[in-house]
Amino acid sequence: MTEEHAGSRTLPTVAVVGAGAIGAFFAGYLLAAGRADVTLCVRTPFDELVVESERWGETVRFRPRVLADPAQVADALAPPVDWVLLATKAHQTAGAAGWLRALTGSGTTVVVLQNGVEQVELVRPYVAAGARVVPGIVYSGVEPLGPGRVVHRTNGFVYVPARDPDQGVVPEDAERLDALFASDRAFVRPVADLTTALWKKLCANVVANGITALTERRIEVLRRDDIRLVASALAEECLAVGRAEGASIDAAFGEATIDRMAAMPDGAGSSMLFDRLAGRTLEHDALYGAVTRAGRRHDIATPVTDVVGALLAALSDRPDEVA
Ligand SMILES: NC(=O)c1ccc[n+]([C@@H]2O[C@H](COP(=O)([O-])OP(=O)(O)OC[C@H]3O[C@@H](n4cnc5c(N)ncnc54)[C@H](OP(=O)(O)O)[C@@H]3O)[C@@H](O)[C@H]2O)c1
Repeated sequence: MTEEHAGSRTLPTVAVVGAGAIGAFFAGYLLAAGRADVTLCVRTPFDELVVESERWGETVRFRPRVLADPAQVADALAPPVDWVLLATKAHQTAGAAGWLRALTGSGTTVVVLQNGVEQVELVRPYVAAGARVVPGIVYSGVEPLGPGRVVHRTNGFVYVPARDPDQGVVPEDAERLDALFASDRAFVRPVADLTTALWKKLCANVVANGITALTERRIEVLRRDDIRLVASALAEECLAVGRAEGASIDAAFGEATIDRMAAMPDGAGSSMLFDRLAGRTLEHDALYGAVTRAGRRHDIATPVTDVVGALLAALSDRPDEVA
């Protein structure tokens, strides 16, 4: 499908901040549904958005409204917008502060499409008073191919909390946002136990991302016995801390997660490996730093996590590489 974007102020307004892999995927399917007035707020501009879905055997193409400077927001849109989908990497959040300030007001719901468990604390300082900030737990395997071009391979949805973590009310965010996709694929799904969902996803991230980035090897590296020991220790530490934070995760979850990853097809990678291979800054602090910080709060030692986090930080900070 190829269409010109025709903005309409009568539709709910959605700004997608950061149109890399995840931002482009959700923006593409929102544009395809035509139920929202969608704007992409980007760092590297492009004319055409192309989402090639291998999973669903289709390609979505649009020429969307793209802004590359927060100073354009006041003229191009009538802020505040109804929804912001924040899809930068976690460590790029402060850099996107100008967008968040320009786009949000009371009545805006910011859904943070980022890995980690600290989404709300990280983003809240940058949004307008009265805006709601909701964590999103992304289950969508998407790889960026270049500005505005991505390939979608697995899953294709995000969990958002069924209850507002601050207000204790049922805001029906999942239903309202999912309705904008006009699809029975359930792009946005409610999750009742947010803490458990966040820590299960974090466990899956910490066992594979750091090891693949440090070794510059695909996920098959988890099939090595020596590497498996490292992955098991990372999972064990993460889940011990997660349980102390209130997550209900049984003892077998870590090993089952590693088994599932080790069984992935040859060539499967991780987003941190792709960032490493491209010389980009790594999202280590939102994953390993988060486990270390929460572990300290509960007096739980996380020695393997701390070492992997420190090695990734040193690799990420190499002065010869771009941010
Ligand atoms: N990809 C996946 O399969 C996947 C799956 C689950 C969860 N996640 C999580 O989803 C989040 C997003 O990941 P991703 O894979 O989509 O990352 P990504 O492909 O690196 O996309 C991030 C995008 O944010 C843009 N950006 C950075 N700073 C910006 C700024 N100041 N203003 C506007 N745009 C800015 C980047 O622009 P440039 O193009 O200029 O760099 C890039 O296009 C991460 O937390 C990741 O861990 C990803």
